[in-house]
Amino acid sequence: MKYYRAHLLVCAGTGCVSCGAFTLKEALEKEVARRGLADEVLVVATGCNGFCERGPIMMVHPEGIFYQRLTVEDVPFLVEEHLLKGRPIQKLMYVPSPGTTPIPKMSDIDFFKHQRLIVLRNRGRIDPERIEDAIAYDGY
Ligand code: FES
Repeated sequence: MKYYRAHLLVCAGTGCVSCGAFTLKEALEKEVARRGLADEVLVVATGCNGFCERGPIMMVHPEGIFYQRLTVEDVPFLVEEHLLKGRPIQKLMYVPSPGTTPIPKMSDIDFFKHQRLIVLRNRGRIDPERIEDAIAYDGY
């Protein structure tokens, strides 16, 4: 089994796909490869996270950094700053209301932190097309 230091979990639910998630995923994969990170960083298409109006969204695992309304134009800067320099990008994070501080982690956003997921507890964390992912997260 291959290990990666980071997983880019790109939401590929209907809402995010309609906002360009697959184009974003492809751009991330190309930029990760171009920067020589393909053996360290895996880009994964996940199921819907439930925050569709902020799409396309992506979580960086294992830190849980949450990015929203991403565009292909954001990709080179995101890979450079976050994955190469280790500096998460505030301007791509969720801001609850104008003038408030960006919230870096998905788990700290009100929408997510009050949820208690049972059946969908692995949503957004695994590739729904890989049984190995479901098994690894005790979902099978
Ligand atoms: S489709 Fe991405 S959060 Fe729902």
